[in-house]
Amino acid sequence: MTVIRAVRTDDAPRLTELLTQLGYPNEPGAVTNRLAELLESDTQRLFTAGPDDDSRIDGYLSIERRLLLAEDEYAEITGLVVDSTARRSGIGRILVDAAEQWAVRQGLHTVMVRSNVARSESHRFYAGIGYQRKKTSHVYRKEI
Ligand SMILES: CC(C)(COP(=O)(O)OP(=O)(O)OC[C@H]1O[C@@H](n2cnc3c(N)ncnc32)[C@H](O)[C@@H]1OP(=O)(O)O)[C@@H](O)C(=O)NCCC(=O)NCCS
Repeated sequence: MTVIRAVRTDDAPRLTELLTQLGYPNEPGAVTNRLAELLESDTQRLFTAGPDDDSRIDGYLSIERRLLLAEDEYAEITGLVVDSTARRSGIGRILVDAAEQWAVRQGLHTVMVRSNVARSESHRFYAGIGYQRKKTSHVYRKEI
C-alpha cells in the first residue's frame, strides 16, 4: 500500500535523485540546504509517497500557499516527480490528493500547477485527475 508522509531532512539524497529525473541535477549538499529552509517554512509543504514499511521513496510533491494582489490566496504545486519505474500505478494521483487535502485544511479552494509544455505525460496526468488548462506562458530569466 502506498503511504504519504511529510518529507524529512534525511530524504535529501533521494529527493536529489528524483530532481535529476525531473531534469534538475543538483549537488546533494545544495538540496540538503534548501530542504532545511523549506521544512522551516509556514507556507510550504513537501510530501513523499512510498510503501508503508518506509523502505523507499517512489515520488515526492511540494506545494506552497501563494498570496498575490491580483487574486485570492491559492495553493501551487511547485514540484512533483514519480520515479520512472513506478509511474502509472496511481502514485502521482495519491500525492496530488494529499496536497489538495493540505490546501483544504489551509482554507484554500484552488490548486494550480505550471508544467513545461515539453512534459507531455504530465499534461495527460493533470487532465486525467481533473485539472483544466488555463493558459500557456513564456518564462523569462536574467542572472543579476
Ligand atoms: C506526471 C507524473 C507525476 C504522473 O505520475 P503517475 O504516478 O505516473 O500518475 P498516476 O499513475 O497517478 O496517473 C493518474 C492518471 O493520470 C493519467 N496519466 C498519468 N500518466 C499518463 C500518461 N503517461 N499518459 C496518459 N495518461 C496518464 C491517467 O488518467 C491516470 O489514471 P489511470 O492510470 O487510471 O488511467 C509522472 O509521470 C512523472 O513523474 N513524470 C515526470 C515528471 C513530471 O512531468 N512532473 C510534473 C511536473 S509539473
